[in-house]
Amino acid sequence: MGVQISPSILSADFTDLAADVARIAPAADWVHVDVMDNHFVPNLTIGLPVVERLAEVSDLPLDVHLMIADVDRWAPDYADAGAGSVTFHVEASTAPVRLARTLREHGVRAGMALRPATAIEPYADLLAELDMLLLMTVEPGFGGQPFLDLVLPKLRRARALVGGRDAAVWLQVDGGVSEETIERCAEAGADVFVAGSAVYGSDDPGRAVQALRAQAERATAHAAWGLPSG
Ligand code: DX5
Ligand code: ZN
Repeated sequence: MGVQISPSILSADFTDLAADVARIAPAADWVHVDVMDNHFVPNLTIGLPVVERLAEVSDLPLDVHLMIADVDRWAPDYADAGAGSVTFHVEASTAPVRLARTLREHGVRAGMALRPATAIEPYADLLAELDMLLLMTVEPGFGGQPFLDLVLPKLRRARALVGGRDAAVWLQVDGGVSEETIERCAEAGADVFVAGSAVYGSDDPGRAVQALRAQAERATAHAAWGLPSG
């Protein structure tokens, strides 16, 4: 896979999500759906009924990012709700290997997310169980926060762990990703880019997605990890 863009509807109009998903559908690869429970993070968004309905009306596959406690209990229901990818936080999971396997059994891509202060190294042996690793580039909970450059070294180490351009595990970044920061992320090893305010804060969200993709593709082409191996 090349560069993929997954706009976050956290910054969309919650009273008209179907229309806001349609605005990005021609340009984006996924629609990123942030589920927050006011326990794992200090914010509350949407849950299963809305995700089920979004899966029915969206032309894009749903990239569900669960920021919820007791995620081992709830994540499979999001797979059954029609998501294409379900990402759980390792800090919220009691049995991440079992959960990743369960998600795959439920027919979705299994993603695991790390908060900025969570190290990747303890999870190196789990990577084969995953389809995507999400490195948060802000503390999860809110849109519009400034990008944390301190995550970039972890992103480079994660890229080295998963392998080069044809790696089986996708590397996603989420938080503060914008025209200012996306090139740094791509250069360091990300290949799936979540952007909320940078897309929905724009007058033309579809064009914003195209601009972000072009920047990420340029930066990837120049990155050592993205160069053809021979
Ligand atoms: C934050 C969410 C993000 C959020 C990103 O916890 O996981 O997906 O929408 O928003 P921006 O792109 O505005 O930082
Ligand atoms: Zn998210």
